[in-house]
Amino acid sequence: MDTIAQLQQYIDQSSRIVFFGGAGVSTESGIKDFRSVDGLYHMKYKYNPETILSHSFFLNHTEEFFEFYMDKIVQPTQNAAPNTAHTVLAQLEAQGKLSAVITQNIDGLHQMAGSRNVLELHGSIHRNYCMKCGAKYSLAETLAHGDIPHCKCGGLIRPDVVLYEEPLNDTIITKAIHAISSADLLIVGGTSLTVYPAAGFLDFYQGNKLVVINLDNTSYDSKAALTINGKIGEVLGQLAL
Ligand code: APR
Ligand code: ZN
Repeated sequence: MDTIAQLQQYIDQSSRIVFFGGAGVSTESGIKDFRSVDGLYHMKYKYNPETILSHSFFLNHTEEFFEFYMDKIVQPTQNAAPNTAHTVLAQLEAQGKLSAVITQNIDGLHQMAGSRNVLELHGSIHRNYCMKCGAKYSLAETLAHGDIPHCKCGGLIRPDVVLYEEPLNDTIITKAIHAISSADLLIVGGTSLTVYPAAGFLDFYQGNKLVVINLDNTSYDSKAALTINGKIGEVLGQLAL
C-alpha cells in the first residue's frame, strides 16, 4: 500500500487524532523554519539567533532583541495565510476526528485556519503583556507602541512566547500530555524534534500508529509506523476527507 493510502486508512480508522507540529508546517505559507538549510538559524547575525531569542538576551539587550524579533519572527508572519496543512487539520477537528493540534509555532496560523483546540507550547506573537501591570496587548497594539513597546504605565510590553531559558506553561504541558496519551493516532509533522521538552512529549503516546511527515529524517522515524518524507501541505492535501 502506498504511504498516502496507508495514512488515509489510519485516519479513517481513528477518532482521537492528535497532531504535533513545528515550523515546517508554516514554510508552505512562506514563513522560514529554523534549522533547514535556508532556515533562520543558518543566517549570519552578530549573535547566534538562539542566543538572541533567550530570556537573558531579552533583558540585557532589549533593543537588539526587539529588532531581531520584529524583523525575523513577526514581520514574516504579517502576510502569511494558512496553507493546506492547516486547513486539513481544522477540517479533521470539525469532523470530530482530531482532538488537538499541539504546535511549537507562535504564528497563530492553525487558529486562522479554523482549528479550535490548539495547544501552543511556545506561546504566540498575538499575545503580548506588560511586565509591570500585566495589561494585555494585541500584536497590532504592540507594533503601534514603537521599537521597544512600553505600556501606558511605563512597563515594558513583552510577547507571550517561550524564550530560551524560560519554562513552558504548566497548563499547556498538562493538556498536551493528556491529549497525546489518549490519542489513537499521533501525526507528527514539520518539526526536527530537536528542542526539549517539546519533543519529549511524544513519548507519552501509548498507541501503535505514530506517523511522521517531514522533509528531513527525524530521531522518531525509527519508532514510527509510517514515515513520509514530503511537504506536509502537499501530503495532507491528498487525503479524502
Ligand atoms: N513539510 C514537511 N516538513 C518540512 C517542511 C514542509 N513543507 N518544511 C520544513 N520541513 C521540516 C524540515 O525538514 C525540518 O526538519 O520541518 C522541520 C523544521 O525544523 P525546525 O526548523 O527545527 O523547526 P522546529 O522543529 O519547529 O523547531 C522547534 O526550536 O528554536 C526553537 O522555538 C523554536 O519552536 C521552535 C523550536
Ligand atoms: Zn503596564
